Amino acid sequence: MAVTRLWGSDPLGAISGRDDVSERRRLPLREIANYYCSHNGLFRVIPQKIKERRNSQIKPRILIPSAEIEAGVTRLATDIRRDYQGVNLILISILKGSFIFTADLIRRLDLALEVHFVQLSSYGKKTESAGKVQLVQPLQCSIKGRHILVVEDIVDAGYTISFIMEYLRGEQPASLKLCALADKPSRRLIPVTIDYLGFTVPDKFIVGYGIDWDEKFRNLPDICALEDEG
Ligand code: IMP
Ligand code: MG
Repeated sequence: MAVTRLWGSDPLGAISGRDDVSERRRLPLREIANYYCSHNGLFRVIPQKIKERRNSQIKPRILIPSAEIEAGVTRLATDIRRDYQGVNLILISILKGSFIFTADLIRRLDLALEVHFVQLSSYGKKTESAGKVQLVQPLQCSIKGRHILVVEDIVDAGYTISFIMEYLRGEQPASLKLCALADKPSRRLIPVTIDYLGFTVPDKFIVGYGIDWDEKFRNLPDICALEDEG
């Protein structure tokens, strides 16, 4: 079953030509990097060659070193273990960004648990005004009456996690909680309750430890902020 939904805002509104500075500020770096403002004031897709040159100027800077991540994951595992003693827990990991976090977390959880994965993706041409979230890999198991802990990489505006929590709630679990590696509260547009939080991060585009920019940088051991050196 494919579940689709509008993101709820117009994340690409600014690049479709609307002169709205606050919208443009909210665009993630990965979106900005794909567009340029042409001579007639419209935002157009950057040709591949220019894009590659620009991309090479974007450098990751360490924000949370791997040792700190490790300590944070251990702290989260301690809290989760305490709260789910004697419970048959199901962890639902959101692909792809949380795959490393999930792998490290479960190895610290001395509990009876299952791990399942869902994958979300946005689709449609980047120049279209509204992105959509699609559940490209839905749940492969029943969670009715089960205790569920969702594992997410980063909560930003809150659209993605609200979408998945709503979907899972509809499957009638006994309990539903959220564990997130990182939170950017300054960018929140939809209220989200994070039951177990690793790190609060500033309003920067982050990569590493499984988190990507255009599928790159997932293999960095540290959580880094992308900075444009150009
Ligand atoms: P939201 O729907 O705005 O909360 O966005 C959450 C999703 O966008 C996360 O699951 C990430 O996949 C992605 N995302 C948000 N912020 C960042 C970031 O700083 N780096 C990489 N991906 C991000
Ligand atoms: Mg994600």
